[in-house]
Amino acid sequence: MSLSLTADTPAVPAVAVDGVWLECIECGATYAPFEDIRYTCDEDDGLLEVRYADLPTFEEFSGRGVWRYADALPLADGVTTQEGDTPLYEVPRLEADIGVETLRIKHEGMNPTGSFKDRGMTVGVAVAKELGVDRLACASTGNTSAALAAYGSRGGMETLVLLPAGKVAAGKVGQAALHDARILEVDGNFDRCLDIVQELAAMGEAYLLNSLNPFRLEGQKTIGLEILEGFRADYDAYPDRIVLPVGNAGNTSALYKAFRELVQAGALEPSEVPKLTGVQAEGAAPIVEAIENDADHVRRWDDVETRATAIRIGNPVNAPKALPGIRETGGTAVAVSDDEITAAQQALAREGIGVEPASAASVAGLRNLRAQGVVGDDERVACLTTGHLLKDPDAAAAAGNDPEPVPADTDGVLAHLQE
Ligand code: F0G
Repeated sequence: MSLSLTADTPAVPAVAVDGVWLECIECGATYAPFEDIRYTCDEDDGLLEVRYADLPTFEEFSGRGVWRYADALPLADGVTTQEGDTPLYEVPRLEADIGVETLRIKHEGMNPTGSFKDRGMTVGVAVAKELGVDRLACASTGNTSAALAAYGSRGGMETLVLLPAGKVAAGKVGQAALHDARILEVDGNFDRCLDIVQELAAMGEAYLLNSLNPFRLEGQKTIGLEILEGFRADYDAYPDRIVLPVGNAGNTSALYKAFRELVQAGALEPSEVPKLTGVQAEGAAPIVEAIENDADHVRRWDDVETRATAIRIGNPVNAPKALPGIRETGGTAVAVSDDEITAAQQALAREGIGVEPASAASVAGLRNLRAQGVVGDDERVACLTTGHLLKDPDAAAAAGNDPEPVPADTDGVLAHLQE
């Protein structure tokens, strides 16, 4: 099986329910969507994707937010707090500075819990309800845990989150705590947390809502659909390129799937598909390594480090979906340093857009690729910023201005300003 942009529409298997089924991306084995709980293929452990008998075109979308795209999703509605419909900001100064025809920032930090994870959870938690489970779990660098806690609570389910101790930004831990998750602090990195939670899920202890769960990625497809509709409304053309931060490569996989489905539905020409361009931090860049080496598989990095804690990930589980996405769309992957990430975070902030460090990786990566000539000056580009500034207040304070102590009287303040 290959995840080709121009794959034929698959035949509907007998296991399909209302035209929806699960399919292994490696061997093509098919499964009923909501019968048993499974995250990977029984035959070969391959990743699963949701398949549809009928794929919608743009005309079939109506309403706002993630559920505007219900016809492209496995359920008609979800456990919702009005996620999606995020801004596509203009950034004229940054656009001129980087030197591209058009630059827009799709700010996913403007979702209810402050990251794109809400799009996946509104679908994933609804599926969990459909399956009748009562306990949800995830491993997380922070944002997934915040979203799972919020949506799990809203759906009336218990949530369990496994976090790498000392490596999760303060805002995210606070969210998971207040939204009533049980927070298990693991003495290990994110990849270890994910190993453990996968084992717990396999033992039936909880329903897994990491991006290994194919239903979550369905919700995240809507980022791609919104970007296409936004560009078409403003420029009567789709973006040439979408640049995004990469950790587990869930978004990369989800956007590629959104575009494949539009091509299959006849709503998008293969030549109109934006080049998916992934950005990782230098200290956690297994996808970049695989793209640079033209490798079929990623090598697990056991030691990872970056200031962008959200993407401090050495074993991107969605690589088998994401690598074809980057390659088939003509995109690429690039690594950026922590200082480049901070510089991009500051540049976005000066445009009034507050993002957490991992989010700024997209802009840092675009700047590097433009400087290398990989991105042309005639390109229309969307950069994805994945999480809000308030997620990581310590990083914001470190990257921003220091408070200046002043006396508690006007003369004293004036004197200070005139120094
Ligand atoms: N940006 C932010 C802010 C994130 O939180 C994440 C992932 C990514 C980018 C990477 O996205 O995995 O789809 O490539 N955060 C996960 C978490 C791992 O646990 O919150 P991806």
